[in-house]
Amino acid sequence: MPRPELQAPPEIFYNDSEARKYTTSSRIIEIQARISERALELLNLPNDGVPKLLLDIGCGSGLSGETLSENGHHWIGYDISQSMLDIAVEREVEGDVLLGDMGQGLGLRPGVIDGAISISAVQWLCYADKSSHEPRMRLKAFFGSLYRCLSRGARAVLQLYAENMNQSEMIMTYAMRAGFSGGVVVDWPHSSKARKEYLVLTCGPASLQTALPKGKGEDGEMCSDEDDSDDDENQTVGVYERNRPRKKLKVNKKGKSKGKQWVLKKKEQMRRKGNDVPPDSKYTARKRKAYF
Ligand SMILES: C[S@@+](CC[C@H](N)C(=O)[O-])C[C@H]1O[C@@H](n2cnc3c(N)ncnc32)[C@H](O)[C@@H]1O
Repeated sequence: MPRPELQAPPEIFYNDSEARKYTTSSRIIEIQARISERALELLNLPNDGVPKLLLDIGCGSGLSGETLSENGHHWIGYDISQSMLDIAVEREVEGDVLLGDMGQGLGLRPGVIDGAISISAVQWLCYADKSSHEPRMRLKAFFGSLYRCLSRGARAVLQLYAENMNQSEMIMTYAMRAGFSGGVVVDWPHSSKARKEYLVLTCGPASLQTALPKGKGEDGEMCSDEDDSDDDENQTVGVYERNRPRKKLKVNKKGKSKGKQWVLKKKEQMRRKGNDVPPDSKYTARKRKAYF
């Protein structure tokens, strides 16, 4: 099954039936609760017994937000899917939920939020679902608005499923550009099923207090059966294969792809026209692997 981000925009993918299926799966409930507990731990809120005002970005039907309520905090949930939010309201979650697209910025007052979590949602920003969508601009708007609404020194912990290194780097770059310090905490790095990445961001410059906590299992200890049981049944917690249509290889009239001689001839023509063309080498027009 391809990953959800490759199937449809989030507000379409999480329609009434998918939202209900998601929220009634006992495996999803269990996995999202476990990830949310860990995100809350990584938020490292002061242990002063005072309830905090937190954000749950991409809150869905409120599975992640419930963990915040259970720990005595107030929260505001933000999501683009009306169907997910309808279920959150139906389930009478304690947070206030808002319909909105994080890629357009959160639109909250500056400095009013004590911390933010986001569980399995931010990777959606890496996909352009409309001609007006530019993932980099959307990441910029999101991280800029997140930075502004957090109080100084507050943390945001974003658990996400990037499809590849390019996406991870792009997300990190825009977080840093917005002014955050921090990095990625990886739990269970040696388990393909249980491995989870958390972007742990602090609002403000790096300091001793902003040092990153260690990931679970970094020292080689094994994860419990419970942690290791995340499987493809949960479409947000699995290992997915690339499923975007591959670019068609250009072929000539005889149905063969253009070879090295053709590339060399074209380069020569370009040189003759006075264009700046890289020198020929043993790599010119080499065959590439199917994936790289
Ligand atoms: C896998 S669900 C996770 C829901 C919830 N955090 C949980 O743990 O159960 C991902 C959620 O991200 C939301 N989402 C995706 N893109 C979004 C966007 N641009 N703005 C707001 N929410 C978005 C989806 O609508 C969906 O509800």
